[in-house]
Amino acid sequence: MINLLNNAIKFTNQGTISIDGSCQNTAQNTRVLTLTVKDTGIGINEDQQRHLFNAFAQAEIFTTRTYGSTGLGLSIVNQLSALMAGDINMISQPGKGSTFTVTLELPQSE
Ligand SMILES: Nc1ncnc2c1ncn2[C@@H]1O[C@H](COP(=O)(O)OP(=O)(O)OP(=O)(O)O)[C@@H](O)[C@H]1O
Ligand SMILES: [Mg+2]
Repeated sequence: MINLLNNAIKFTNQGTISIDGSCQNTAQNTRVLTLTVKDTGIGINEDQQRHLFNAFAQAEIFTTRTYGSTGLGLSIVNQLSALMAGDINMISQPGKGSTFTVTLELPQSE
C-alpha cells in the first residue's frame, strides 16, 4: 500500500488520490481482500504498462532524475502479492490517471 500510495502521490500533480479496501468471505473459509489505489495523475500508456512490474522499470527515462526514484516499488508489490498467492492489476490512461488493484486470498484467523 505504501509503494502504491507513494507512486500515486508522486505522479499526480493535480486532482485526487483515493484508496479503497474490501473483504469478501469465501466458501473455503478464506477471505478475499481487495485493495485499490486510484489517482488522476499522468497515467501510463499501454507500451509502458507491460514492463512496469519488472525491477528497475520506469515509464519515462527522466523519472529517476525528476523524482529521484529507482523503479523498484511495483516489482516489490508484484513479488509480495505473488508470495501471498495474490495478484496485482493496473488500469491506466495517459493524462487521465491510474488504478492499481491488489487481490489477496487469506485464511481467516480464529
Ligand atoms: N500511479 C502512477 N501514475 C503514473 N505512473 C506510474 C504510477 N505508478 C507507477 N508509475 C510508473 O511506473 C514506474 C515504475 O514504478 P515503481 O514504483 O516501480 O518505480 P518508481 O516509483 O519510479 O521508483 P521507486 O518505487 O523505486 O521509488 C514509475 O517510474 C512510473 O513511470
Ligand atoms: Mg514507486
